[in-house]
Amino acid sequence: MTQTQAPMGDSKAIISNQPGVHEKLDEIVRKHLAHRSKKPYQAHTEQAFNEMNAIVENFDGEIILDSCCGVGQSTRILAKQNPDALVIGIDKSAHRINRNIDDVWQADNYHLIRADLNDFYRLVAAANWPVSKHYILYPNPWPKAKHIQRRWHGSAVFPEIISIGSEIILRSNWPIYLQEFQQAAAIAGRAGQLTQVNEAEPLTPFEAKYQASGQTCWQLRVE
Ligand SMILES: C[S@@+](CC[C@H](N)C(=O)[O-])C[C@H]1O[C@@H](n2cnc3c(N)ncnc32)[C@H](O)[C@@H]1O
Repeated sequence: MTQTQAPMGDSKAIISNQPGVHEKLDEIVRKHLAHRSKKPYQAHTEQAFNEMNAIVENFDGEIILDSCCGVGQSTRILAKQNPDALVIGIDKSAHRINRNIDDVWQADNYHLIRADLNDFYRLVAAANWPVSKHYILYPNPWPKAKHIQRRWHGSAVFPEIISIGSEIILRSNWPIYLQEFQQAAAIAGRAGQLTQVNEAEPLTPFEAKYQASGQTCWQLRVE
């Protein structure tokens, strides 16, 4: 069974011990904005970045990032929808990005890269890639309050994340994740709007699974 045909209709809604935005969110975000991470890059991510950077430097057009792309379905859909753009899907799981998906969304203007975004984001920001749209679709939610720093807006790499892309588009089935990202983005000086996802065609396998289970999917668009 491919992930595009993942089991449908049995996905449980997120349960969290957090009733709303995490009480330490602002403090964590301000701390990360004030002190950038200087952790050394992992070799495999640096190498993957260098290979992609050579392509980006020779490309004269719009760059679209699809972070946490999983099996890359959304990467292919975005490539098909934006034939003049270079679409780059990134995921740390080799198993997911190497999975052969037989979907209708075939295109030749995309790349799937195996890399850890904690490093990859810092490399992209340092190289100043001209990213027009930056997608983060259904990131792992880490719903336990004590795991706030594992969420992207609570992570040390948030300053780089928020600097990448004229537009940042996040989706989640847990609205608190997006409310927190929205609040973190505002601290960094960027405004975002939260809406319900109403498209008939799911963009990703996780979106398909949540919709089939009757869960509401949400989108945050940061401009
Ligand atoms: C819940 S899945 C969503 C996948 C896909 N976007 C979808 O909606 O079907 C989250 C994905 O994020 C990836 N991921 C988590 N942490 C990552 C990191 N530090 N670097 C790169 N990918 C990461 C995981 O491997 C996983 O494929």
